[in-house]
Amino acid sequence: MGSSTRILFCLTMLSNIHFSLAQDENQFIYNGFNGANLHLDGVAKIHPNGLLQLTNTSILQKGYAFYKIPISFNTSSSALIPFPSFSTNFVFAIVSETPDMGGKGLAFAISPSMDFSQALASQYMGLFNISNNGLPTNHVLAIELDTVRNPEFEDINDNHVGIDVNGLKSVESAPAAYFSSEEGKNISLMLSNGDPMQLWMDYDAAKNILNVTLAPIRSLKPNRPLLSTPIDLSQVLLENMYVGFSSATGPTASEHYVLGWSFNRTGPAQNLETSKLPQLPPKRKSSQKRSINIVLPIAATVVLVIFIGAVYFIRKKKYEEVREDWETEYGPQRFSYKNLYIATKDFKETELLGAGGFGKVYRGTLPNSNLQIAVKRVSHDSKQGMKEFIAEIASMRRLSHRNLVQLLGYCRRKGELLLVYDYMPNGSLDKFLFSRIKQSLSWFHRFRVLKGVASALLYLHEEGEQVVLHRDIKSSNVLLDADFNGRLGDFGLARLYDHGTNPQTTHVVGTVGYLAPELSRNGKATIGTDVFAFGVFMLEVACGRRPTDLQGLPEEQSLADWVRSCMKRGAILDIIDPKLEGKYLIEEMELVLKVGLLCSHPFPAMRPNMRQVMQYLDGNANLPETDSSISTSSFTPSNEASEPVFSFSSSYGKRSAHSVSSNESILHKGR
Ligand SMILES: Nc1ncnc2c1ncn2[C@@H]1O[C@H](COP(=O)(O)OP(=O)(O)OP(=O)(O)O)[C@@H](O)[C@H]1O
Ligand SMILES: *[C@@H]1O[C@H](CO)[C@@H](O)[C@H](O)[C@H]1NC(C)=O
Ligand SMILES: *[C@@H]1O[C@H](CO)[C@@H](O)[C@H](O)[C@H]1NC(C)=O
Ligand SMILES: *[C@@H]1O[C@H](CO)[C@@H](O)[C@H](O)[C@H]1NC(C)=O
Ligand SMILES: *[C@@H]1O[C@H](CO)[C@@H](O)[C@H](O)[C@H]1NC(C)=O
Ligand SMILES: *[C@@H]1O[C@H](CO)[C@@H](O)[C@H](O)[C@H]1NC(C)=O
Ligand SMILES: *[C@@H]1O[C@H](CO)[C@@H](O)[C@H](O)[C@H]1NC(C)=O
Ligand SMILES: [Mg+2]
Repeated sequence: MGSSTRILFCLTMLSNIHFSLAQDENQFIYNGFNGANLHLDGVAKIHPNGLLQLTNTSILQKGYAFYKIPISFNTSSSALIPFPSFSTNFVFAIVSETPDMGGKGLAFAISPSMDFSQALASQYMGLFNISNNGLPTNHVLAIELDTVRNPEFEDINDNHVGIDVNGLKSVESAPAAYFSSEEGKNISLMLSNGDPMQLWMDYDAAKNILNVTLAPIRSLKPNRPLLSTPIDLSQVLLENMYVGFSSATGPTASEHYVLGWSFNRTGPAQNLETSKLPQLPPKRKSSQKRSINIVLPIAATVVLVIFIGAVYFIRKKKYEEVREDWETEYGPQRFSYKNLYIATKDFKETELLGAGGFGKVYRGTLPNSNLQIAVKRVSHDSKQGMKEFIAEIASMRRLSHRNLVQLLGYCRRKGELLLVYDYMPNGSLDKFLFSRIKQSLSWFHRFRVLKGVASALLYLHEEGEQVVLHRDIKSSNVLLDADFNGRLGDFGLARLYDHGTNPQTTHVVGTVGYLAPELSRNGKATIGTDVFAFGVFMLEVACGRRPTDLQGLPEEQSLADWVRSCMKRGAILDIIDPKLEGKYLIEEMELVLKVGLLCSHPFPAMRPNMRQVMQYLDGNANLPETDSSISTSSFTPSNEASEPVFSFSSSYGKRSAHSVSSNESILHKGR
């Protein structure tokens, strides 16, 4: 008898537990995450005090925390049971070493799956990748807290809140701020300043309105939301969805934290109890002195230090780096030599991708993240100028465009600088155009590459915070990613020559064949000289000829002159790359040749800007009438164009930038 009552009792207990679970599935509140029912992924972890940390300051990482039980958004219900309203509230903090070096952000996400292994870090926020970004089949709703401006997703600034549906181009976004009813105005917030902030998201299913409200931790919920967007989520949300957080770091990184979180599928989410929330780790101080009174530990420590020191010294020689005080502010960009050494298997010859005027380029796989990289070793001696150049690398961190080869960071050693880039699996375009071994690239891909490179150059010229000149556009600096999209590389590298040189002198950086006539004369790089080189590059892609290798042409003719004269004679078929075997669209081919000639016009004033070039290539503007009788060589003193002055110097390797007098040029012969 006794045992059967016990059994009965147990069964009641079980059904009670089941009942309470079923009730709790669609609502929960966590003031701190100790014991929380979360699935963590990536680098996310929960601190002993209950603080949820999604990422640390390691670059290109992803961190996730999702509620383990799927939430039922019953989309199949009839009009009688409306698609439910729901609401969430959480407290987050974004901590970066210095406020403007942070990246990239965190998002509250509702997703049909917790598996984001295929998603990318950096601007993809750990939620999407290049191929699925924006697809309606994703069924993902995200509220992004974004601290980097990515123009390709039309981000408004580097400190905004956005509503993302299935992709990273926000449906609506606003600079981080809240409405203070006491002051009767909006007050801006800096997301990445390290202070905890609250966010509410409320969805009204009857009216199809999504509200997002932001506020500092100490204030009440503002009565006006930051975003109030009409949106029908019944097409986005599926029956079973996971709710949680995704965070990613890019080439620069912040620590992303969540302190507390409540979610309610059937009503307004309860407010969190701020006094119960876990503390953030103390802000790092530069020096902490502690007095130790006991002698024994000191002695023990000294012995240990000597021992470790000896071991360290032996290892250090191998991985020795140069690190100076001023570099600490560039922390996140900095790679350790040891990691690069491991990544490239000791800079093995088998990992060598190629060599250029600056140095050798190696393939590598970073030990922690398995990220594939390309490491360029540039030799240099000069200390002077290096500081400015590193500052420039740091400023290039914000340059990010789908047709640029992303610069990830750098490392310095004695006598050399290592630049770390995204690895481009298909190598450089010149190999496809000129190699006899590799298969030639189809016209479809060539035309797409040209448009891509044009948009990257437009981005450098006009869309960033400041004008960036590329100064070395050519086919070997255009790389092909896995899908054979063109990506412009080595941007800004030519700047290395500008620093540490005497401002009174000028010198030319660039490659013979791509230099605008005025650049050879006065050495002054401008937007127009970039456009000129781009024009030569366009002709190169259409003709399959290097601008420096014009066998069978009159001595002083340039590629542009030759194309111009052939077009004038109507002999267009002579120009076109025979490797295309006639497979191309004649309208596109003619367009490329004409725009190429216009860009490489000897008069800078006649050249279009990159925005116009994009319009021509997209067929959104008509080309102006051109005078095809103009020849480049007639405007270029022939000794400058055909007899480059080569200079070898110890300071920056082969194509070095030591100071030269104003009428001398340092040129780089195309290979
Ligand atoms: N990010 C990358 N991913 C894959 N391969 C790369 C990458 N960067 C460079 N390479 C390869 O390394 C080769 C050498 O590059 P490098 O930039 O040093 O020389 P270059 O472009 O020929 O001349 P320059 O010094 O004028 O840029 C390239 O031709 C390319 O094949
Ligand atoms: C970040 O976390 C990862 C994984 O836990 C770890 O390997 C890495 O060293 C951490 N980076 C920093 C800067 O603490
Ligand atoms: C969803 O709604 C349909 C139609 O109203 C109903 O039959 C079904 O039981 C609901 N499912 C859940 C899991 O609530
Ligand atoms: C992108 O993600 C989707 C879905 O996770 C996956 O099927 C696809 O293979 C990924 N594509 C790339 C290029 O990684
Ligand atoms: C405050 O910001 C909101 C949302 O960005 C905007 O609609 C509103 O006009 C602003 N109000 C004031 C008083 O500036
Ligand atoms: C959303 O914001 C609007 C405008 O302030 C407000 O009228 C509405 O009640 C809010 N809806 C929800 C679900 O919070
Ligand atoms: C969810 O909403 C219901 C109805 O308004 C409320 O009773 C409950 O306390 C809420 N739960 C949470 C966790 O916010
Ligand atoms: Mg290059």
